[in-house]
Amino acid sequence: MNHLLSINDVTRESALEILDTAAELSRLSENSIKKFPTLRGRTVVNLFFEDSTRTRISFEAAAKRLSADVINFSAKGSSLSKGESLKDTALTLQAMGADAVVIRHSASGAAHQLARQKWMSGAVINAGDGTHEHPTQALLDAFTIRRNLANGEGDLKGLRVGIVGDILHSRVARSNVLLLQKLGATVVLIAPPTLLPVGVEKWGTEISFNLDEEIDEVDVIMMLRVQRERMDDLFFPTEREYSRNFGLNNERIQRMKKGAIVMHPGPMNRGLEISADSADSKRSVIVEQVANGVSVRMAVLYLLLGGSQ
Ligand code: NCD
Repeated sequence: MNHLLSINDVTRESALEILDTAAELSRLSENSIKKFPTLRGRTVVNLFFEDSTRTRISFEAAAKRLSADVINFSAKGSSLSKGESLKDTALTLQAMGADAVVIRHSASGAAHQLARQKWMSGAVINAGDGTHEHPTQALLDAFTIRRNLANGEGDLKGLRVGIVGDILHSRVARSNVLLLQKLGATVVLIAPPTLLPVGVEKWGTEISFNLDEEIDEVDVIMMLRVQRERMDDLFFPTEREYSRNFGLNNERIQRMKKGAIVMHPGPMNRGLEISADSADSKRSVIVEQVANGVSVRMAVLYLLLGGSQ
């Protein structure tokens, strides 16, 4: 693997290798090794054209724990806002000796373009491209599910995962569907028809328009943010109605199976797709997802940049 652009490029074996490596790194970190010398002298650039809190910080923490030098480059306040192209930016990064570029962009395919054009020689990691993919989020989600429900080892066979809400705009959903199925889980997408993409029936998942029929069947319920910034149209009548039909609340939480968990990639709209008490409930592993993100991104950087050492 030279880049991480899409879960489509990750085999089941390499996904398991990333998860195992993340588990090992997380175990070592707990045993008080906070910093590894593995990527000393290497440079990781965070190239963020879209706003982000947790993903950018997570990659930064991951790179620093591996002793890499980190350059944070956000589009606002840079020459990009003066109209510099992706190509010129890439050439600049190449001149600065970037070994890896972590890119988030509002255009689907931006990471692929950066990798394909060979403007720079470093590894490209997709940290979210438009509504297309967000592979490290899917990996950290799989890691979190495995830790909580599969004894931390093996794949996710036999588990039923419900992904709820704004599937249409969600790169998290796309990457998760690909990865969870690769790892043997059954995925059910739960959403109003207006928030399902065209062609979704070819994704190989089950589809439901009724959260109440699914809530007591799933081992994992993954709530998605309603992505208002990508909505140029009316996708549901009112927020109240959306919450009533597709929001997670205490009453629905009570009906979940023993041991079933609640996930959300963040940032959450508390009160819209998830009630505050659901987000903070005992079943919620939302904060754990953030912590696991660092271990998983360390594993990805390690395997892409330092794995052979
Ligand atoms: C997600 C994203 O940016 O795609 N967030 C994240 O990476 N933690 C989901 C979202 O924005 O709703």
